[in-house]
Amino acid sequence: MCGIVGYIGYREAYPILIKGLKRLEYRGYDSAGVALLNKDSNLSVYKSKGKVKNLEQYCEGKDISGTIGIAHTRWATHGEPNDVNAHPHYSQTENIALIHNGIIENYLTIKKLLIKEGYSFKSETDTEVLVQAIEYIKKRYNLSLFDAVKRTLRFVIGAYAIGVIERNNPDVLVAARKGSPLIVGVGEGEFFLGSDATPIIEYTSEVIYLNDEEVVKLERGHQPLIHTLKDIDVQHETSKIMLTLEDIEKGGYPHFMLKEIFEQSKSLTMCMNGRLNTELKEIKLSGVINHIDKFKKAKRILITACGTSWHAGLIGKYLIEEFCRIPVEVEVASEFRYRNPVINPGDILIPISQSGETADTLAAMDLAREKGAFIYGVCNVVGSSIARGTDSGTYTHAGPEIGVASTKAFTTQVTVLIMMALTIGRELKTLSEQRYKKIVTELTNINSKIEEIFTLNQEIETMASVFTYARNFMYLGRGYNYPVALEGALKLKEISYIHAEGYPAAEMKHGPIALIDEEMPVVVVTPKLRTYDKVVSNVQEIKARKGKIIAIVTKGDVDIKKMADFCIEIPDTEECLTPLLTVIPLQLLSYYVATKKGRNVDQPRNLAKSVTVE
Ligand code: AGP
Ligand code: GLU
Repeated sequence: MCGIVGYIGYREAYPILIKGLKRLEYRGYDSAGVALLNKDSNLSVYKSKGKVKNLEQYCEGKDISGTIGIAHTRWATHGEPNDVNAHPHYSQTENIALIHNGIIENYLTIKKLLIKEGYSFKSETDTEVLVQAIEYIKKRYNLSLFDAVKRTLRFVIGAYAIGVIERNNPDVLVAARKGSPLIVGVGEGEFFLGSDATPIIEYTSEVIYLNDEEVVKLERGHQPLIHTLKDIDVQHETSKIMLTLEDIEKGGYPHFMLKEIFEQSKSLTMCMNGRLNTELKEIKLSGVINHIDKFKKAKRILITACGTSWHAGLIGKYLIEEFCRIPVEVEVASEFRYRNPVINPGDILIPISQSGETADTLAAMDLAREKGAFIYGVCNVVGSSIARGTDSGTYTHAGPEIGVASTKAFTTQVTVLIMMALTIGRELKTLSEQRYKKIVTELTNINSKIEEIFTLNQEIETMASVFTYARNFMYLGRGYNYPVALEGALKLKEISYIHAEGYPAAEMKHGPIALIDEEMPVVVVTPKLRTYDKVVSNVQEIKARKGKIIAIVTKGDVDIKKMADFCIEIPDTEECLTPLLTVIPLQLLSYYVATKKGRNVDQPRNLAKSVTVE
């Protein structure tokens, strides 16, 4: 979902801006642009539809000098992806240039007022209205750029993360945010802007997380000046980000997605670090323990998320209801936020989000907080908007997930939910000490089982070659593996563009079985579990209709193995932990089908890594 980069300091800005845009490419975009202000006060805007490399070609031979600049990758919301609608946008006089992530909801109202004042527009975007409004306010009230931005944003409705620079003002870069992510990097004699830390960490690990409706002036030789829209001075301590460059590079893998699939044993270790005591076989989840009274009194737990994170939430329901006997409702955030849900004080809402910036999940969380719920977040990005909006929470510590298709975020989210359910169940005494110890012991061994599944990589790649023809896939699972079936289907469809559906295995008889024929691959996720025999019957029904069966089974399986066309055997483990294992062959299957179809696996068409607009 688009990206923002900004720079003011002693270095040439252009190389920093272009490299920063490339580090943000994973977020998904359709066009890119840069604005530079050089020592002769030439304010140059260069922008083009398509990839950052198109922009680089466009900039060849042009004046790209200047030690202050802003750059943008656009994910179009208002106006098709083309050169004119790309950012940055000039103001009418071309004295101001601006980049924007988000949506200005009342842009038409503002546009009509500006047209009456003699303004005209080149693009179809809401963003151009914003930069024109800033120029109008600046002139009308004879304000500095900083003050004009504050005053303009007071009447703007919507979401924004913006960067603004002005001709004849080469010492000032202004930025602001509301509802869209923006980070300020603080270096020695230089400042950076980024939609996340990835364009910044090469230069500094000191960052400032702006809050909504805060505007910052980054001026050479001065500390950042931060005001609210109502001119109230705000002080923010800098935070240290722990990301390294190595974290955000491919590390020799052809795609970030493959790297992140194979990182899952390491990311689970990081996720459990300091939380799971392998000697004592105990879990210490301070976020839960510090608020255990809330969980003890809760009549209900609500989980809300989107996409893969929603699938993790479904597993969370099974875990918490099984171990804690607290009713859990799971709902996609975009539905939850608009249906006027019943939320009672004392309810606990768990928003789950890798990016911590998903607009629908953020809005659902805000709604629940307004109605008195206790908010316990499960996020991956430290300092993200959702993380900072919670009452408490547990970071997944998966490390940066660059590939659009979520992999290690999912398994670490499930791991956090497992640790939460075990901790709460033990405290509530709804989980026996014996069962607690057995599951925790198995959790301490899970990484070796994940590594064992990685040895099946070649087998899965070979199998994937058989199915690149398919136009539809069905994924089936029961119990803890029903959400895994949904996740496997999502992985395949979002990177290979093959339609795929996940279903509870027993649901086949209620309609979907009509789809089964020899053209339909059916992935059945059925490790040894309490409903295994029922799934055997489901597989027999599919076999009878000539469906091609790909089975994910526990090593040593006999019944399903003899019916399946392809069988992936995974190590045995506790049923509640099986999603951590069964999802991996599905991630690899989708990766290899997609790469064999020549898809852009890390940046699938139409998709963004973080959906920061509705
Ligand atoms: C999953 O592979 C997709 N990238 C998408 O469904 C994602 O899970 C969803 O947009 C939620 O993102 P979040 O976890 O950052 O909130
Ligand atoms: N709404 C703006 C546009 O359509 C910004 C979109 C984005 O976040 O990239 O240009």
